[in-house]
Amino acid sequence: MIRIEGLSKRYGDVEALHRIDLEVPRGEFLVVLGASGAGKSTLLRSINRLTEPTTGSVWLDGQPTTGDRAGLRALRRDVAMIFQHYNVVPRLSVLKNVVTGRLGRMPALASWLQMFPAQDVAIARECLRRVGLDHKAEVRTDKLSGGQKQRVGIARALAQQPKVILADEPVASLDPKTSRTVLNYLREACRASGITVICNLHQVDYAREFGERIVGVAGGRIVFEGPPSALDEAALARIYPGGIGEGEAESPVAEAPSSVAVAAAPAQLTLEQS
Ligand SMILES: Nc1ncnc2c1ncn2[C@@H]1O[C@H](COP(=O)(O)OP(=O)(O)OP(=O)(O)O)[C@@H](O)[C@H]1O
Ligand SMILES: [Mg+2]
Repeated sequence: MIRIEGLSKRYGDVEALHRIDLEVPRGEFLVVLGASGAGKSTLLRSINRLTEPTTGSVWLDGQPTTGDRAGLRALRRDVAMIFQHYNVVPRLSVLKNVVTGRLGRMPALASWLQMFPAQDVAIARECLRRVGLDHKAEVRTDKLSGGQKQRVGIARALAQQPKVILADEPVASLDPKTSRTVLNYLREACRASGITVICNLHQVDYAREFGERIVGVAGGRIVFEGPPSALDEAALARIYPGGIGEGEAESPVAEAPSSVAVAAAPAQLTLEQS
């Protein structure tokens, strides 16, 4: 379970988050809904300390998270992230992309050499099966559609065997049908493994459809918290004070794609680029 207490984040004069208190029980699929600039990404990034909060604390399974070396290492292991722009390595095969999810769980030497034991490869294959992409394992990832790339991103997050998956607008680049397919895979795979999901979304209809619970954010504050059935017009007016659609037109800032170092090493599976 995640517990957030008094979390604030200030960028100069901008208070991106203001004293957020929130608890997310284990295994919940929580949707964070809000207009552009509401603070959704800042909230997510404060949980795994990609952003260091100005004040407040975040607890994971009863342990306070910290931004020191040991704390960050634990967070990178236990909390996986899925981004809008997939962050897959295009030239690597689908399977190799997914197996990189195992890096944080491997012994330092094996991780450094990027040699993946057969057991990790098997886990990666199982995760690909869970997102319906086992038949694409050997395909170069840049040959996939956007929806398939995001399913690779989900499989990589699952391969990490995290406690929590943070998904920042995972379907913002996809059409509605593909978005629903991707969100379904995410929800079902996490439900099956008891993984807690916090998913940022712009779209009210997806939030209603997929959120077990919805947290509405506006101006860095929580302005709604409840089940989808409680998300009425009054709640929407608080979440979208400028009207629905106004914030949805803007595209969030793209995340830089991660790069994977290349190492030539004798192993069952290595990450040399093709
Ligand atoms: N690195 C930064 N430096 C300065 N201001 C920032 C930074 N990151 C975010 N902000 C500001 O904090 C506020 C919240 O931003 P955040 O990215 O969390 O919003 P968001 O809800 O994710 O929006 P979007 O839907 O567009 O992604 C905004 O006013 C934004 O301009
Ligand atoms: Mg954002």
